[in-house]
Amino acid sequence: MKRLDKIYLGTNTKMYKTIKDTVEFLEKLAGLTADIDRNLMELFVIPSFTTLYHAKKAAPERLIKLGAQNMCWEDEGQFTGEISPIMLKEIGVNIIEIGHSERRHVMGETDEIEKKKVSAALRHGFIPLLCIGETMEQKNYGISDEILRIQLKIGLSEITADQAKNVWIAYEPVWAIGVNGIPADEGYANEKHGVIKDTLISMFGREIGGDIPVLYGGSVNPQNALKLIKEENIDGLFIGRSAWQAENFNGIIRSVLPLFMEKKKREGVEKHG
Ligand code: 13P
Repeated sequence: MKRLDKIYLGTNTKMYKTIKDTVEFLEKLAGLTADIDRNLMELFVIPSFTTLYHAKKAAPERLIKLGAQNMCWEDEGQFTGEISPIMLKEIGVNIIEIGHSERRHVMGETDEIEKKKVSAALRHGFIPLLCIGETMEQKNYGISDEILRIQLKIGLSEITADQAKNVWIAYEPVWAIGVNGIPADEGYANEKHGVIKDTLISMFGREIGGDIPVLYGGSVNPQNALKLIKEENIDGLFIGRSAWQAENFNGIIRSVLPLFMEKKKREGVEKHG
């Protein structure tokens, strides 16, 4: 099965849920979505580091993949306050979120740093979920496409095409994220996803680059989720606030799944006549 035959739906709980909150959320989400065929959907949750040990036990991996919000690129050493790939492997997480806008713009991470983290994640068998996106200032200068290309070309510069088979990308325009965010409209998001896909194809070839999932994130809500997922280049959604209650997340999942299936069917018909 090609990777893009599935829809990718996940949430980053940022610095919000305690261990108890996270376990309750995962148990509820796993129960509510257990009947959905995982060949059609990749569901994932990325909670805080302190919750991961308990989170791993709260929901089976076959139902929900678990991710870490950040990772150091070194296996061990004098890096006070950092968490290493070995430590995350010990817990058994699947995904490493790399370069979220809050890491880049609040914590000052650079493309060079994200590059080291992507390589380390792949070396240890994780799925790196590389987050990219332009600021409002960059958008106003008309350089969004260049910024996305730079973030991809540096962030993924050290990896082989074979390794790229395990990478996921999230397009999260900085101006669209969080309480003050303005959601990107579906046309704009689709166009930027097109730029991202073209760049990935230029780097890794059509077969591999074209098969890397590109998710949209930034003020996704039950209304715009439907419009976004209908777009050709949007392979999934990476959701914050609107997914932090299991019932609400389940609602979004149930509403976008049939639209995604229709889109896949339509694309299949167009391709094969
Ligand atoms: P919001 O959906 O709350 O804007 O957050 C998106 C996000 O940052 C996902 O990583």
